Amino acid sequence: MINILKSYKELSLTVADIVEHILSLPKPKLILPTGSTPIGLYKELVNRDLDWSTATTYNLDEYVDNTIQEQSYKYFMWENLFNHININEDNVFFPSDIAVWPDMDYGVGVDLCLLGIGGNGHIAFNEPGSSFESETRMVDLTKETIKDNSRFFPTIDDVPTQAVTMGLKSIMSSKKIVLMVSGEHKLNIMNVAMAGEVTESIPASILQTHNNVEVYYCD
Ligand code: PGA
Repeated sequence: MINILKSYKELSLTVADIVEHILSLPKPKLILPTGSTPIGLYKELVNRDLDWSTATTYNLDEYVDNTIQEQSYKYFMWENLFNHININEDNVFFPSDIAVWPDMDYGVGVDLCLLGIGGNGHIAFNEPGSSFESETRMVDLTKETIKDNSRFFPTIDDVPTQAVTMGLKSIMSSKKIVLMVSGEHKLNIMNVAMAGEVTESIPASILQTHNNVEVYYCD
């Protein structure tokens, strides 16, 4: 289930191949992540000039009460991907738009969910202790996540303390899940999540119970 790749470039190209295949399906639906891990993937997808005209995308999460627009996940997605592809903006959804929460809960019919993993084993903003039955909801961020994400903000006090996240149940409804892991600092948590006990203390461990998960790791 865990594929070790030689470089970040290879990770980005390999996952881009998977996305390219999904985009060839009729009316493809994808769940997309933010963070540093998928930046190379999004660059590669932009370079490939693929047809996104019938695609629908759902983002995993978004901060609440964020005062720094450049750090919003909506901003990140438009900057890194959506502005450069032919996606229909009516088909782009973020969980922070409360009107779309119910839609985001079904997850059913989603062809591909791309994920990163947090240092504490979170996926999206499902922090340790999140119920495996969780759906889209508002959550408090842990101190560890706030500290991890402070690298993107002027000071740690600027990091929002809450977010809206797609739930674990919603994520698990996807037909296929690809977890991208980049950097040795994530190696241990990846191994614990993918080979250790399946427990709500390590939210990513739920992935072991999905029948179509691929994990791609590079140092
Ligand atoms: P990263 O974040 O890609 O910036 O490491 C992943 C995550 O916290 O889910």
